[in-house]
Amino acid sequence: MTQIIQTIAELRALVRGWKAAGESVGVVPTMGALHEGHLSLARRARAECERVITTIFVNPKQFNNPDDLKKYPRTLEADAALLSGVPVDVVFAPGVDEVYPDGFITTVSVGGVSEPLEGRMRPGHFDGVATVVTKLFGMTEANRGYFGQKDWQQLQVVLRLVRDLNLPVTVVGCETIREADGLAMSSRNVRLTAEGRAVAGVLYAAVTVAADEIRAGQSDRMAIREAAEKLRAAGFERVEYIELRDAETLMPSDDPRRPRRMLAAAWLDGVRLIDNIPV
Ligand code: PAJ
Repeated sequence: MTQIIQTIAELRALVRGWKAAGESVGVVPTMGALHEGHLSLARRARAECERVITTIFVNPKQFNNPDDLKKYPRTLEADAALLSGVPVDVVFAPGVDEVYPDGFITTVSVGGVSEPLEGRMRPGHFDGVATVVTKLFGMTEANRGYFGQKDWQQLQVVLRLVRDLNLPVTVVGCETIREADGLAMSSRNVRLTAEGRAVAGVLYAAVTVAADEIRAGQSDRMAIREAAEKLRAAGFERVEYIELRDAETLMPSDDPRRPRRMLAAAWLDGVRLIDNIPV
């Protein structure tokens, strides 16, 4: 069984030993409730680094909705068992007081790329992410950090953060892992009802068709409007956004020579689903 460490002091002692032996360290930050998406990051880290740390910390600072934080699944033992199969060297699962002790007052806030889309819909979310990711890089002294493209905007925020603060870590973006019907794997998918789960794949299908149409020359607006209509027809309660953006800055983009990304967020069964694909 993979070793679980809960204090920063113990983690540092372990990492210092590895570093003294000249070993490279990879970190896979997660909030637990692990699925194949998370495990794919851990396997990639395993293949590329001599030592692998998976962190499991449900970060209160990145939840703008207290109910979402309360309902977030916590399954540490099952997670550790899955990680033993990779295997990773250590699971770092600190408590909230270990990460944010009394007096904690610093926030890392990335401008620009944090502001639109998820940033607008979830105020404070990316400050919470940037702050905890900076801390996790500091605690683990990782050479490489693994993040999923599933959270495309988060990946761009972390890339910007590392560049702007000269953090000595290489950020690796990994492909989105999907269910057979195209639904991007997510810890929140378990909250869908059977009926919701049966139609959730429409999100990926609709943005895929829209992206194909745009590549074939159809107007962005038309293709996106059709995608939103498909979601409503399938039973999604609310489409928060479907947007074609510059893949790096996340700003509106009608320049097909730049890499672009279609990003979407929509509610089904009271569950907020997000997805994104290249265009
Ligand atoms: P969490 O949602 O647990 O995701 C942890 C990592 O797994 C993220 O990098 C996410 O993009 C990746 N991931 C999730 N689903 C995936 C999928 N279907 N395919 C590929 N990768 C996937 O994202 C967070 O936690 C937090 O914001 C965190 C970065 C840990 C900071 O608290």
